[in-house]
Amino acid sequence: MSELYIGTLSGTSVDGIDAALVRFSPQPELIATHCAPFPPALRETVLSLCRPGENEIDRLGQADVLIGQAMAQAVQALLAKTTFTAGDIRAIGSHGQTIRHRPKHTPAFTLQIGDPNVIASLTGIPVVADFRRKDLALGGQGAPLVPAFHDAVFRSAQSDRVIVNIGGIANLTALPGGSSTLLGFDTGPGNTLLDGWCRQTTGETMDRDGQLAAQGTVRPALLKALLQDPYFHALPPKSTGPEYFSLAWLQAHLDATGGGSAEDIQATLVTLTARTIADAIKKITAVRRPEIFICGGGAHNPQLRAALAAELADCTIQKTDALGIAADWVEAMAFAWLARQRWQAQPGNCPVVTGAARAAVLGGLWLPN
Ligand SMILES: Nc1ncnc2c1ncn2[C@@H]1O[C@H](COP(=O)(O)OP(=O)(O)O)[C@@H](O)[C@H]1O
Ligand SMILES: [Mg+2]
Repeated sequence: MSELYIGTLSGTSVDGIDAALVRFSPQPELIATHCAPFPPALRETVLSLCRPGENEIDRLGQADVLIGQAMAQAVQALLAKTTFTAGDIRAIGSHGQTIRHRPKHTPAFTLQIGDPNVIASLTGIPVVADFRRKDLALGGQGAPLVPAFHDAVFRSAQSDRVIVNIGGIANLTALPGGSSTLLGFDTGPGNTLLDGWCRQTTGETMDRDGQLAAQGTVRPALLKALLQDPYFHALPPKSTGPEYFSLAWLQAHLDATGGGSAEDIQATLVTLTARTIADAIKKITAVRRPEIFICGGGAHNPQLRAALAAELADCTIQKTDALGIAADWVEAMAFAWLARQRWQAQPGNCPVVTGAARAAVLGGLWLPN
């Protein structure tokens, strides 16, 4: 018997609320998608909540409700594109919006908002949410969570594969062929610095098609300084967020190395993202010249794709579309999958990825009735 789940999230790019309707029979199949642009004022609130500031509790409390409402609307708009109604959907897996991720603090914590009570009440559908904190309670980093889904849908018995998800932060999953082991971690910034620098210098929310970067030249001294950050040299498990790879982080390096034109810095940041992904892949001895599949919004940036191809000349690089899942929808599908895991009381984390003491059922359940 097939089952329908919805996955919804907004990533660290805060570009939009993704909602995906997935049928499991039991292999997942993408049935319908909807992306609601993030309301601009709410986006400003979220970006400000991602940085420590004043009066955070009031702003957080309101954003929690507003994001819950926006996510419920995205789910309703998704269903309106189909012949299904709320009663057909077993559950929504809602990641929410991360506003702080501090896996190395003592104690470590992570915070996602978008009240599941609001989503369940407005949609009439059970909601699974709060996926990350159980893993943290077990000593893990609570991130990345997508590797378990990548393992379930992208593994090949014959070939070594690496899945690279380039969202605000980039993460990878290494899937050696002919083995059941896996590796996964955040490699560092994906689009977050590209978006932030573009916004600061041009006012645009993203460097569409890499146009700004295309006009610049990589600054070797700046690139070298950025690459020395200890995060890139730390061993997994590791995860990070835009509160670490922030414009303040970039500015400190610009001050130290003399900076450059907006275009040159954007070009340097593109190479930083590509180089740190490539270096991470090259260090994984379990995969040799793997087939690489990219997903997330960064897969649309031709400058980034070209930089990755230059860094990984030995490997084929394709979008996950080549494996049957559109690059833009892998993450939303992963949260539909994680909701199903929770519903079936199956584990959602990979302890080898997050560092948790054991595999565990992730997420709580919020009922509409
Ligand atoms: N055409 C494009 N050109 C350049 N960058 C793009 C393009 N389309 C999407 N992106 C990048 O992808 C980001 C959104 O990716 P997404 O996977 O949704 O990230 P997140 O999971 O962090 O929300 C945008 O903020 C932008 O940086
Ligand atoms: Mg997004």
